[in-house]
Amino acid sequence: MGATMLFSSSIRARAHQIWMLSKEEKPQSRRTPGSSAQDSMWLRRELRSPASKCQLSKTSATKLPRLRTLKTPWNRLHVQVPLLAEVYGIEGNIFRLKINEETPLKPRYEVPDVLTSKPSTVRLTSCSGDTGSLVLADGKGDLKCHITANPFKVDLVSEEEVVMSINSLGQLYFEHLQNPLMQRATKENEDTSVDTTQENQDELCLWEEKFENFVDVKVNGPASIGLDFSLHGFEHLYGIPQHAESHQLKNTGDGDAYRLYNLDVYGYKIHDKMGIYGSVPYLLAHKLGRTLGIFWLNASETLVEISTEPAVKYTLTQMGPVAAKQKVESRTDVRWMSESGIIDVFLLTGPTPSDVFRQYSYLTGTQAMPPLFSLGYHQCRWNYEDEQDVKAVDAGFDEHDIPYDVMWLDIEHTEGKRYFTWDKKRFPNPKRMQELLRSKKRKLVVISDPHIKVDPNYSVYAKAKEQGFFVRNHDGGDFEGVCWPGLSSYLDFTNPKVREWYSSLFAFSVYQGSTDILHVWNDMNEPSVFRGPELTMQKNAIHHGNWEHRELHNIYGFYQQMATAEGLIQRSKGKERPFVLTRSFFAGSQKYGAVWTGDNTAEWSYLKISVPMLLTLSITGISFCGADIGGFIGNPEAELLVRWYQAGAYQPFFRSHATKNTRRREPWLFGEKHTQLIREAIRERYALLPYWYSLFYFAHVASQPVMRPLWIEFPGELETFGVEDEYMLGSALLVHPVTEPKATVVDVFLPGSNEVWFDSKTFSHWKGACTVKIPVSLDTIPVFQRGGSVVPIKTTIGKSTGCMTDSPYGLRVALSTKGSAVGEVYLDDGHSFQYLHQKQFLHRKFSFSSGVLINSCADERGRYPSKCVVEQIFVLGLKKQPSSVTAHSSDGKAQPVAFTYCAKTSTLSLEKLSLNIGADWKVHIQ
Ligand code: NOJ
Repeated sequence: MGATMLFSSSIRARAHQIWMLSKEEKPQSRRTPGSSAQDSMWLRRELRSPASKCQLSKTSATKLPRLRTLKTPWNRLHVQVPLLAEVYGIEGNIFRLKINEETPLKPRYEVPDVLTSKPSTVRLTSCSGDTGSLVLADGKGDLKCHITANPFKVDLVSEEEVVMSINSLGQLYFEHLQNPLMQRATKENEDTSVDTTQENQDELCLWEEKFENFVDVKVNGPASIGLDFSLHGFEHLYGIPQHAESHQLKNTGDGDAYRLYNLDVYGYKIHDKMGIYGSVPYLLAHKLGRTLGIFWLNASETLVEISTEPAVKYTLTQMGPVAAKQKVESRTDVRWMSESGIIDVFLLTGPTPSDVFRQYSYLTGTQAMPPLFSLGYHQCRWNYEDEQDVKAVDAGFDEHDIPYDVMWLDIEHTEGKRYFTWDKKRFPNPKRMQELLRSKKRKLVVISDPHIKVDPNYSVYAKAKEQGFFVRNHDGGDFEGVCWPGLSSYLDFTNPKVREWYSSLFAFSVYQGSTDILHVWNDMNEPSVFRGPELTMQKNAIHHGNWEHRELHNIYGFYQQMATAEGLIQRSKGKERPFVLTRSFFAGSQKYGAVWTGDNTAEWSYLKISVPMLLTLSITGISFCGADIGGFIGNPEAELLVRWYQAGAYQPFFRSHATKNTRRREPWLFGEKHTQLIREAIRERYALLPYWYSLFYFAHVASQPVMRPLWIEFPGELETFGVEDEYMLGSALLVHPVTEPKATVVDVFLPGSNEVWFDSKTFSHWKGACTVKIPVSLDTIPVFQRGGSVVPIKTTIGKSTGCMTDSPYGLRVALSTKGSAVGEVYLDDGHSFQYLHQKQFLHRKFSFSSGVLINSCADERGRYPSKCVVEQIFVLGLKKQPSSVTAHSSDGKAQPVAFTYCAKTSTLSLEKLSLNIGADWKVHIQ
């Protein structure tokens, strides 16, 4: 294969290299019950052109975890099923490998709607290879994909080093769709045979699985797929949310794979690999000098096994045609297995963490730019009882001088859990209630779940029923399951018509009692089905296009949030940014809003695990994430509640929530001392809003996570790779929340041998690359600013974000060891899409060096008239007292500035300034 292959996006037949693999199956030897399944499969590759048949090669499939649904690929009959493998090069150093049956009995499910658009393929050059192999290289030739046929293996090679091998362990398997007749044949065989074989029984149970009272019939037999990836030199893997587990992925043992299967798990167990509400089948691997990503685009139940061989004497010998270095290095093997669908996997080749973030968001989209209010504090409980209750709680915040932005209403606000309605007794005048909130520039969020009460008099139900908009049973009737309203049907959000219709329900004219300050919360959308198998929908329920639920289970909630966000945008005629919180999610959900970690518990261990859980969401694209403050289940003691507020104030989505029958826990109910501490934590959040908002803008436009594990900011420092009790917010702030009771000291690791870190309150500083013991009392939130950064803040806090639009800014300039600093601020109207369509925004850059602080434009495209001034500047780490400080405007005018200098903390303070945030100016410090 010396020829250059063209990868044109327009001609599919030429857009990729086509490989033929065939699975030859052979009759099984008799297995003893419970023996590990060492089933064999054969892969044969045939290149279509030029004719070059390769030999058969035997590979083995190893044991699968003992979980309910995924069973061993089981080869029954002596048949050959050709598989088609396609390799694409995608813009931005991404490779895509697709494997499907060449001619399946019927199409297999390929996940739609997740990729933002058809990824642009790039021209790959076939640079070497014989009849049994092929080497594809990207334009620059830095990255190569070595494909061998016998045995089938793909090596990803960068600068002559193999970084990843696919199927080097021979665990590729692909159960082909079968004609039901075959099942019958097996059954008949069983009936007539006296000596019923174990294989026959196993075979039958794969066609018809029993779980409790449920029987899951697989019409075309078991159809699972799997593939292994060996990551050379990698010991640190992260990602594949959602699990209540550590940030760094653990090795999986027998039956202990990470499961990706969206489920409603009330009070989920922590340190557990079972799936909870959402799934992002995407992991990142990091080592010194390289970060990689593997995005496995499959929405069926998925398992991931991980096994790391530490850096002992491991030598790569199997290089195929690759002239790569032999290395003694560690290796992590990852095995992905899905119940159905096809193998469609994206290899994100980095090399830096930022590159991987960009590559992933190129495929699935970036974080939606949130409306500013949604970065404020949210007050929720199941339930705020009635309008009076809402009024009283709202007033409580003002009485206690605590800012907040959003009041939340849970399911009881509706008429018998009929979403889009109001309980007339409790909320007789929802518009009046919203006007009260509006008067303080606050908002309302109400819940809207995917289950629809079976009630012909409920118009949402009646219309959906009439139009055939519900998920169906496999026998054709509407699927009915039990949820909050009792018997319910479930909207089939996978159908674009259903989404369009659902979106239209949010129109002000349709959703009676709603106003433009009302935003939405999608819950129970795994979907949760009480009394269903594992509290969810049967896998053989039927969706639009005749797809079984098993194919798309993990993407159901994604579609509901998509339709809701679209509905909120449409009701404003495309002008306003929506806020939609979802419990269930999939890859790409970041485009539609925020995610939270569901029904956690009011225990210290849940507070602690919120950090790794949110870090994992953040690096898999979902920056807007949070955990219920205080813990949803149970009653937190005052100390835990305070610590949770302090932690939550530094997490992206900041909402307090509590389940029914818990004691009320509004911030002022725990005595003045604790009220004061909670007030302080919330006020710190509001002070930092310009920084938060800017970080979200960078997540939105540049794919960089808001909340970052230390290894992202310090990818070259091994000590950071396993840290998960502290993290960075952007690149400037390091946060180490206190998550232990009665803490008097916390050990804070400050990374970076060339770094200096400043305590954000006391301004004390430390050199990096050390662990410091920070004394803490109940009012301490350990936050450190990195030397070399400028953090924008607000100096005056209002009742809500909306009340702070014109309030002044402050700048915290923390000098690096070289005496310099840089930072940015982004601002716009905080609610509309004008930043996008009319470029109505300000993006400013602050830089400090040689004693001069400069405010300059960071993006010339943006214009936004802001009256706001910078009124306060603190310069931390200024070694000596200046003799004078002068402010210079762009027209050349200079004004002396009054200052104070604290020699003990090396801090210069400039107050009562009046420098417009959007204007060019300089401050000279001499
Ligand atoms: C389950 C959610 O996780 C919880 O936050 C909510 O309060 C209840 N459903 C009731 O809607």
